Amino acid sequence: MKLQEKINRNKFLKQLGFTGAALFALYTTESCKNEAAGVTPLPSSGLTLDLTDSSYANLKKTGGYIIKSGIVVANYNGNYIAATLTCSHEGRQQITFQSNQWYCTAHGARFDVTGKGLNSEGKKGLTIYQVSLSGNTLTITA
Ligand code: FES
Repeated sequence: MKLQEKINRNKFLKQLGFTGAALFALYTTESCKNEAAGVTPLPSSGLTLDLTDSSYANLKKTGGYIIKSGIVVANYNGNYIAATLTCSHEGRQQITFQSNQWYCTAHGARFDVTGKGLNSEGKKGLTIYQVSLSGNTLTITA
């Protein structure tokens, strides 16, 4: 929220009778909401995928990817990689994997496989996760 919007909103809320602690509570709640709209946190145990599950068949081909629980998992030249679904540009959950890059379909942010931004929309980088494979089980951790 921009400063001018916040000032106008503050004025509006005061006109409705919100003051002091009530205003603070409203702004604190809004901050938490904004954090929740950011990168989806991984469960502490990580995310586990059974690659024999047919819903992950797209991961078997190079360049294929799947989206699960706010995480994008891709097959990068036979290796599995993972990133958040949430773009660092404006927080849209539209990260995909195209042409060996993470790509946001909202405004075109591009990131290399390490999460480094490749254009101005991607300049903040992308959260990347660790991936390990054991048999047919893929585990993604922070
Ligand atoms: S939100 Fe991804 S490029 Fe803008």
